[in-house]
Amino acid sequence: MFATGVTIVTARGPDGAPVGLTASSFNSVALTPPLVLWSMAHQTSSLPVFNQCTHYAIHVLTVQQRELAERFATRGIDRWAGVAWQPSAQGVPLIEGVAAVFECANRSQYVEGDHTIFVGQVEHCSHRPDASPLLYHGGMFYTEHPLGRLSPTVARPLHK
Ligand SMILES: Cc1cc2nc3c(=O)[nH]c(=O)nc-3n(C[C@H](O)[C@H](O)[C@H](O)COP(=O)(O)O)c2cc1C
Repeated sequence: MFATGVTIVTARGPDGAPVGLTASSFNSVALTPPLVLWSMAHQTSSLPVFNQCTHYAIHVLTVQQRELAERFATRGIDRWAGVAWQPSAQGVPLIEGVAAVFECANRSQYVEGDHTIFVGQVEHCSHRPDASPLLYHGGMFYTEHPLGRLSPTVARPLHK
């Protein structure tokens, strides 16, 4: 019952090939230094790449990218076919047209049960303020339905 956004996390494998997967487990951790987290199931084929890589990128998807969200969670296909991307300064594939991107150093990993929690240190980030988010809730995709701004008297999380 917890609604989330949807991200695609990308990295470059040791053979130079781009890898990526859809992840809704993304969240913010800290502002100083800027840290974010996401978690990956151990059965995921790209786990060894993310265990080893120095950098990865977390892309926050727009409502127009639902097909991309499903594609990067589908096995046995070329996920990158026809996807517009550019390498970052560290060679990480950056997908174009997303709502936001966090370029992260692969700071720490915590094995917990059948998942590994990755904590990334954000080195660069950018966003499109006009983008409508892709949301995920109970096995369904949604987009925003604004209810109004947070009251100014409410203590909000510093990083959200
Ligand atoms: C909306 C959505 C959210 C997902 N979130 C996660 C996640 O946070 N962590 C994870 O390990 N897998 C998540 N998955 C599943 C992975 O995307 C999927 O298991 C992975 O792409 C399989 O990769 P593989 O074929 O390389 O093993 C999610 C899938 C969808 C559709």
